[in-house]
Amino acid sequence: MAEPVGADAGTTIDSAARARQLQAVLNHHSALYYSGKPEIPDADFDELLRELQALESQHPELVHPDSPTQRVGAPPDTAFAPVRHEPPMMSLHNALDLGELRAWNERVHRALGASKPTVQQAELTLEDAVAEPTGEQALPVLEDVAAEQALPVLEDAATEPTGEQALPTLEASAAGPTLENVAAVEQAVPAYSVELKFDGLAISVRYEDGVMVRAATRGDGRTGEDVTHSVRTIVDVPVRLKDPAPDDPAPDDPFPDRAPAVLEVRGEVILYLSTFERLNARQAERGEKAYVNPRNAAAGSLRQKDARVTAERGLSFWCYQLAYAEGGPDFSSHMESLKWLESLGLPVNQYSARLDDLASVEAHVTDFERRRHDLDYEFDGLVVKVDDLGLQARLGVDAKAPRWAVAYKFPPEERTTRLLDIDVSIGPSGQATPFARLEPVFVGGVTVATATLHNEDQVAAKDVRPGDTVIVRRAGEVIPEVVGPVLSERPEGSEPWSFPPNCPICKEKLQRAEGMSATQCVNYRCPRQIRGRIEHFVGRAAMDIEFLGERNIDRFVTEGLLGDVVGLYDLDFERIEQMEGFGQISVNNLRKSIEASKQQPLSRLLFALSIPEIGQVNARVLAAAFGHIDAILDASEEALAEVEGFGPIIAASVRAWFDNPDNRELIKGLRESGLRMEAEAPADATAGEALPQTLAGMSVVVSGTLEGFSRDGARQAILARGGSSPGSVSGRTTALVVGADAGASKLRKAESSGVPVIDETDFQMLLETGELP
Ligand code: IVH
Repeated sequence: MAEPVGADAGTTIDSAARARQLQAVLNHHSALYYSGKPEIPDADFDELLRELQALESQHPELVHPDSPTQRVGAPPDTAFAPVRHEPPMMSLHNALDLGELRAWNERVHRALGASKPTVQQAELTLEDAVAEPTGEQALPVLEDVAAEQALPVLEDAATEPTGEQALPTLEASAAGPTLENVAAVEQAVPAYSVELKFDGLAISVRYEDGVMVRAATRGDGRTGEDVTHSVRTIVDVPVRLKDPAPDDPAPDDPFPDRAPAVLEVRGEVILYLSTFERLNARQAERGEKAYVNPRNAAAGSLRQKDARVTAERGLSFWCYQLAYAEGGPDFSSHMESLKWLESLGLPVNQYSARLDDLASVEAHVTDFERRRHDLDYEFDGLVVKVDDLGLQARLGVDAKAPRWAVAYKFPPEERTTRLLDIDVSIGPSGQATPFARLEPVFVGGVTVATATLHNEDQVAAKDVRPGDTVIVRRAGEVIPEVVGPVLSERPEGSEPWSFPPNCPICKEKLQRAEGMSATQCVNYRCPRQIRGRIEHFVGRAAMDIEFLGERNIDRFVTEGLLGDVVGLYDLDFERIEQMEGFGQISVNNLRKSIEASKQQPLSRLLFALSIPEIGQVNARVLAAAFGHIDAILDASEEALAEVEGFGPIIAASVRAWFDNPDNRELIKGLRESGLRMEAEAPADATAGEALPQTLAGMSVVVSGTLEGFSRDGARQAILARGGSSPGSVSGRTTALVVGADAGASKLRKAESSGVPVIDETDFQMLLETGELP
């Protein structure tokens, strides 16, 4: 994060004071975390913890017994009965990138005496292993055997290798110390099991004689809180284990007659994303605050006194570690123990994999990092464990975590930073959007300095205020968002933010229409809107005018060369040629491109005009329905509403736009500049030979069902012959064609305006000859 929580910006503080400050801040957040109400993301906590660890290792005199570095977590809440963990629930060391993962791998190798061999070392190792194997030297060469039955083999190898176990060594040796052999030697290192690192809450669950007797949170690692009542409601956690010793075990049952008398497993309580979304929807319905993320929601749910509340939250569970077993089989590997736990009915995640070397581990973690958002639950990294239990025992643990495992953490997707200010940006159509100016923070793989706050209501709902420390989230490729404030960090005397009354660009009053969430600058001449209209107008999907980027538009508008869209057709090219960055060639290109745009068909023009609700698709439909801009200028709101897929909202929007005198003036200007105001010929006409333009200049309205034409087919037939086919009858209508169930209002309008009403046979005739009966 850009500025550590609680640090005084710009002040130099000495190490002792900083350590005390970090200890206090971390203890504060640790307590919040364990009460299910964390305020800052884990990544921020970890970073502060790392800073403190570094300080304390430089200055050991600063280590205080109460320092968070001396404890795994916060002491448990006494509200829930304390449960002592045996063995303790340890934490994991983190690897924040592949480099740190490699460093951990090297440490494992060094500790096991399996340092990465060079060619010379490999030769030595191989020869020595054959001549006089010791445990240390034998280790790297027993690859295949280790995969099968690692522990006994390694131990036996150290003392007295048998022919079987020594075989790989002999083979390698017989082939000679070539480079391939060296690769084989490198692969002979301990295999790893790799699992998802679930982003939830660790719990320990105890079974006695196959029955779940207790479940507890991690607490400080040694003592947690009894949450049996809550955990019993989690469907994934079996209340009774499956009997692994049925009367007639299957012949291929790897674990016959080994019912554990006592079993203690560790795993993670999580909330599926879909369940989390449902939970938040319900919170909203009840007018209650949304949970910021599934983990917080899971924590809050687990620590409910009333188990009925927990039950309705729909928690889930993944079991990832066997902590203790009495009366179970002997395992040589972690993966084997997981398979056994699965056979007892415990939920073991399907993405656990056993991988032979670091290269495969790296490929695997990279792959899962890509797929981070493909699952219905959150995982914030992968846990890599030395699979062989004998090797785990040799590696041991340190004060905080095992040496045989590491958590490879993905880059954080949530961080805190300072909200410097809330500004308002004006979009091309005048929409005023509040956005956060942030102290830059690295989150979700990018540096974020701004984030949208959407609209006035969103700012109020989140109650974020300038000066707040806020949580910023960027998950996947989505745009960054401000999740909410860290209330404990709020500066004194801060006030809720209020929407500025005026447009930051043109200073006119902003407006928010009744019932709408958006605030608007409604000044048609606001420079931002002018630029916005021009930018949109020249766009590739609109009039497709090249050589006019945002920067040039900005320059032309600022220098008074361009007042609005219509000005594009009256540019002073001589002046432009004198401008820096322009030459004759680029001016000529620009001129050609502008000239060519005049031939764009009506659908593109309609899209280019930035009419609210009229995107590319609606523009095409509108152009096809009316054929000519004049028909749209005259069309009633009802007629517009009848256009396929339109309805009253779009119709009202189009009508309002065309009724605005500024827009009518704009159309007039564009027409005078020589722009084409007609629809393109329909596809069937352009594909084959052009049809005789029998209906040129005519406007034919169709109502009801015809036998020989679909609704759209009739319209296409009219357009293909040069006519237009609006949705309603006006004084300018040439004829109204009526089929079965024709609209009564159209008939009435036709009669009152003296428009001829014809049937399908007459329509056929009209199409062919252009003549009415
Ligand atoms: S093994 C002694 N495996 O990560 C090893 N932990 O930062 C104990 N976690 O407290 C942990 N997924 O809450 C392990 N597949 C997994 C895990 C996992 C998530 C959590 C667990 C632990 C924390 C350590």
